[in-house]
Amino acid sequence: MGLISTDLCGVALSSPVVLAAGTCGYVDEMADAIDLARVGAVTTKSITREPREGNQPTRILDAPAGMINAIGLANMGLDRFIAEKAPLAASVPTNVIGSVAGGSVEEYLRIAGRFDEIEAIPIIELNVSCPNTDDGRHASDDPDRLKGLLAEVRGVVTRSRLFVKLPPKTDGLVDLAESAVAGGADGLTLTNTLEVMSIDVETRRSRLTRPRMGYSGPGIHPLSVRLVHQVYKEFAADAGVPIIGTGGVSDWREAAEMILAGATAVGMGTALYVDPRSPIHVAEGLQRWVRSQGCASIGELVGAFEQ
Ligand SMILES: Cc1cc2nc3c(=O)[nH]c(=O)nc-3n(C[C@H](O)[C@H](O)[C@H](O)COP(=O)(O)O)c2cc1C
Repeated sequence: MGLISTDLCGVALSSPVVLAAGTCGYVDEMADAIDLARVGAVTTKSITREPREGNQPTRILDAPAGMINAIGLANMGLDRFIAEKAPLAASVPTNVIGSVAGGSVEEYLRIAGRFDEIEAIPIIELNVSCPNTDDGRHASDDPDRLKGLLAEVRGVVTRSRLFVKLPPKTDGLVDLAESAVAGGADGLTLTNTLEVMSIDVETRRSRLTRPRMGYSGPGIHPLSVRLVHQVYKEFAADAGVPIIGTGGVSDWREAAEMILAGATAVGMGTALYVDPRSPIHVAEGLQRWVRSQGCASIGELVGAFEQ
């Protein structure tokens, strides 16, 4: 066991650093830039039943301290993913987290059920928090609806660990997390992008093709830390539910903050666009940090924030 190895519901991770959904291709694309053995997991793009073109370009905008995207879940769809990409999961030297998106319970069931048959996908992550589509957040509008969705999906996910990825709600996130776990989730990914607006004052229209879009990167980091800590403290710590803390992490200090706030693993997305090697630097920094804190394992630092 290395200093920074950890585990998510029994799935061993060589490092707590996880590449976040939608920012690292389908499965193995990041292998061109980094040795994937040095990250704990890669998360697939969110997969839907049918192929999706996503929203019209332009879909990405530079923003102060981050970026705004309106990708809209562009992906090749379930059948092509299963035929072309899923076989690669067995050959990458890291864990693969299969991200599932849907506009209906049936769609989530269909995709999650297929993913559960793939041994090389030990964790399934339900994306119920995409702000860039009209129906991507439907399932997380209400705790009871979310619990119902999880209960149904749990019925078809019998082998994989089941995570749910929630939106950065500043009120009511703990309720959502509790409902998801009551429905059958094993873990939580906190959080997706923040729903924002950006207006072109000349045209008086949205700068991208939708009125509301997702903001990510350094600007959301302090909010993400607060949300991870709140859910950890008020629910997840006692319930023994692991959190993948995601939002604005680009260096090891920000990753360490997530760990202290209560995250077992740390997602990185936008930082990959700035420096695809940043997950490696973060893992190295975490290693030095754990040693300097006098700990034998990073697990000792999870939730170790002192008020
Ligand atoms: C371009 C882009 C595409 C994304 N696509 C997805 C997606 O398909 N599914 C998903 O669950 N999250 C998606 N996300 C959200 C990220 O996985 C992550 O939760 C969010 O960006 C916050 O982390 P970050 O600040 O490290 O990027 C996307 C984010 C970006 C920037």
